[in-house]
Amino acid sequence: MKFIFNQKNFFNEIEPLISKSMGTEHMSPFLYSFIKFIRPHRCLEIGGGLTTVYILSALKELHELEKQEMSNKETNFDLRFKNDDYYNLKHPDFILHSFDLLSHPKTSANKISEVANKLELNKHLKFYNEDYKNLVNIIPKAELEFDLIWCDLGGLEHYLVYQDLLLPLISNRGGYIIFHSTLSNVHGLAFLSQLKLKLNNGMLPNFELISLFEPQKKKTK
Ligand SMILES: C[S@@+](CC[C@H](N)C(=O)[O-])C[C@H]1O[C@@H](n2cnc3c(N)ncnc32)[C@H](O)[C@@H]1O
Repeated sequence: MKFIFNQKNFFNEIEPLISKSMGTEHMSPFLYSFIKFIRPHRCLEIGGGLTTVYILSALKELHELEKQEMSNKETNFDLRFKNDDYYNLKHPDFILHSFDLLSHPKTSANKISEVANKLELNKHLKFYNEDYKNLVNIIPKAELEFDLIWCDLGGLEHYLVYQDLLLPLISNRGGYIIFHSTLSNVHGLAFLSQLKLKLNNGMLPNFELISLFEPQKKKTK
């Protein structure tokens, strides 16, 4: 099985997606590993760029891996540890719905489709040059449930929308929502505080929160 890290042209092809101001050069491989680890099938991304190709690479590799596992082929995962409950579930396809308005002057999201094509990842991508706030009118109703949501667009306005719009879209089977940079700016911190308040008040049952701190980042307003 091919992994992105030993695909010769991978790092050359993704070069145009790297943008210093987005700060996702480490987040992207982190997301890749996290996805390989927790195996979400249907994912949603708000704000595309470098992260998009790493997410797609993980989804493509999982797709190929699960095909082999389903047919009891030997992989790097010892089949004796297979959890039948997981394999018997009717999972959605491995797909990433990615939204980007292309409004940020330094965005690289305009190049995602081309890079995804070159790396043969496009089968797993649905890219929308649309405002994510309209996503319920864009994504078919039957697909409005996600195993993983990655929000890479900050700002109080968006955090408030995310709560009402996105939390209800986390899969009933259990899922993850990741917000980037909540500890390095005032809006993120305010959002986090009221999420914690809601958790403490029992308003978000079955929800667990973990925050990762990037100590190198200056706090911004
Ligand atoms: C921080 S950047 C995303 C960085 C990207 N994940 C990466 O790895 O390079 C946030 C993106 O959100 C986009 N954006 C801003 N407002 C939006 C909206 N309302 N709906 C969808 N995308 C939006 C911007 O064009 C920008 O590309």
